[in-house]
Amino acid sequence: MAFPEAFLDELVSRNDIADVVGTYVHLTKKSGSNMFGLCPFHSEKTPSFSVSQDKQIYHCFGCGKGGGVVNFIMEIENLSYPDAVQILAKRSGMTVPDDRVSKETQSRRARLFELNSDAARFFYTVLLSPQGAEAKKYIVRRGITKAMVTRFGLGAAPDSWNALYDAMTEKGYTKQELLDAGLVKQSRKDAQSVYDAFRNRLMFPVIDVRGSIIGFSGRILGDGEPKYLNSPDTVVFDKSRNLFALNLAKKSKAGILLLTEGNIDVVALHQAGFDCAVASLGTSLTEEQVRLMSRYTQNVTIAYDTDEAGMKASQRAIGILEKAGLGVRVLRMQGAKDPDEFIRKFGSDAFSLLLERSEHHVDYRLQAIKTKYDINNNDEKVKYIKEAISILSSISNLVEREVYCRKVSELVGISYDAITNEIAKIKKQKKQLGNSAQETREMINHATKKYKTKKLHYENSNSAIAEQGIIRLLLNDVELFKLLEYYSFSRDEFTVPFLAKTYDIILKRKNMNIGTSPASILTELDSEEATQLLSFMNYNENLKREEALVAYINRIRKEKLVFIKNNVNTTESDIIDNALKLALEKQNTISKYDKDLNSKKYRDQSGCGG
Ligand code: CTP
Ligand code: MN
Repeated sequence: MAFPEAFLDELVSRNDIADVVGTYVHLTKKSGSNMFGLCPFHSEKTPSFSVSQDKQIYHCFGCGKGGGVVNFIMEIENLSYPDAVQILAKRSGMTVPDDRVSKETQSRRARLFELNSDAARFFYTVLLSPQGAEAKKYIVRRGITKAMVTRFGLGAAPDSWNALYDAMTEKGYTKQELLDAGLVKQSRKDAQSVYDAFRNRLMFPVIDVRGSIIGFSGRILGDGEPKYLNSPDTVVFDKSRNLFALNLAKKSKAGILLLTEGNIDVVALHQAGFDCAVASLGTSLTEEQVRLMSRYTQNVTIAYDTDEAGMKASQRAIGILEKAGLGVRVLRMQGAKDPDEFIRKFGSDAFSLLLERSEHHVDYRLQAIKTKYDINNNDEKVKYIKEAISILSSISNLVEREVYCRKVSELVGISYDAITNEIAKIKKQKKQLGNSAQETREMINHATKKYKTKKLHYENSNSAIAEQGIIRLLLNDVELFKLLEYYSFSRDEFTVPFLAKTYDIILKRKNMNIGTSPASILTELDSEEATQLLSFMNYNENLKREEALVAYINRIRKEKLVFIKNNVNTTESDIIDNALKLALEKQNTISKYDKDLNSKKYRDQSGCGG
């Protein structure tokens, strides 16, 4: 999606970030050059959303969102990059040079949205008519109230092969449009004829966070397969990027999202007052869906069905949610197969209690492996302990880890010390080789603590933090490229692809002489990348820039050696070799650096000495 650089630069300069943000957020000027307001991306009472007019970027210290003006529009309007560019171009009277968001695509999308709304209206009318009698009966049987029918816009697909087709073509939609929307299907026998895709089903419109109807789920009335039929992916519908009822749940004050399996569960939960319930659309939870959720909450509680499949799906979902840095809890329902049944049997107060007591995911995972093994059998007990220890060793919070170690220790009758010893062994295996200079370590630890945002999970966070540092320094002073060159630092030394990419962008822009301000770099990143970049931009190294840069290079190289040691089949003597090499290298780098920093040579070369 390469818009010409010059165009983007002009676009950014014509759309002052404070003006653009100001139309969505009430900004007030505080001391300094930053403005503050209530973050539009998460709910808060005191402003932690800041806009820097100097840098032309925004950043929320609460939720970590941030970016340039294009990212802001993408985020707040839920638009793709080209669409956001289009909007800003229009706003500032510019024409997008290469008309990549073709008028045709846009009008096709608009047409499908309209068609979907008309179809939803049709299904709703059918539900209220005699044709919808069976669906109405089903709704009553499931205890769904009229209010919920309206809130969710429920409807009924009639028991007919062509009722929707006829009604929509009468309204002027073409056969092709109905096919494109997935509302009708091509007959196999006759190439000319099509038939309604949804027949005799309870219809749930799927509405995106901007309020457009993007597709449908149809539930069978009673038993039978498939239980749910969903619209196929279309130009406006992508199952993996949307969640049922998020349009409603995003407004919830609950502070969490409640993730369920079925649309009926969602409706039942909303009806019982749990307006934070959502469901995925027949696919298992995807990373995109998690990213979408993380725009509205930091905490997700899983309330899948209690059967085997639901438990498996929970384990999977925990992994994805955790990876995205969200707080995860799991509901353990007893005596009911799903939230809907639970509420019908025990009431919404009981469900509230359940929510309050929902388990931290470590409990849940420990419990789940416990059911796998018979711990009265010694062999199985050992297997259980092994798995448990691996779970325990992954807990980073020390207090939390201690609590769970004690639990496991009691459960299996093995001493607490034995368990923590095992964990220590695992940790030691992973631990780095060699000691770095004290101040480097402190600096990096500090940066880690402060800027390791919850959203970032790196394979090697020590190296990643140093890599971030290099990017941060370069963005402050591109002349530092010379120092990198001097130390033969290559972009391939980055272990985080996104940071290598950012490095390339800065270098490219520097070489082309087209500006390397943070805001201009951000125009080349998507909004998630921009958020990542901003999460570590504001740190100030205590050391001099050059010193800090060298410390970062050293750290990256050291981590590389550690990695080699841990991952290659090394003998004891290899390890010693490496350690020696490392020590020597450190010695050399430091003395070389000390010398060079003071020598005229580097100053002349870099133009940034002192
Ligand atoms: N599902 C689907 N499409 C949807 C929603 C759910 O294909 N739009 C699938 C899920 O992947 C899951 C199952 O349907 O496998 C969920 O079923 P369930 O929770 O049993 O649905 P309910 O409507 O709650 O059914 P029940 O009346 O049995 O509780
Ligand atoms: Mn269910």
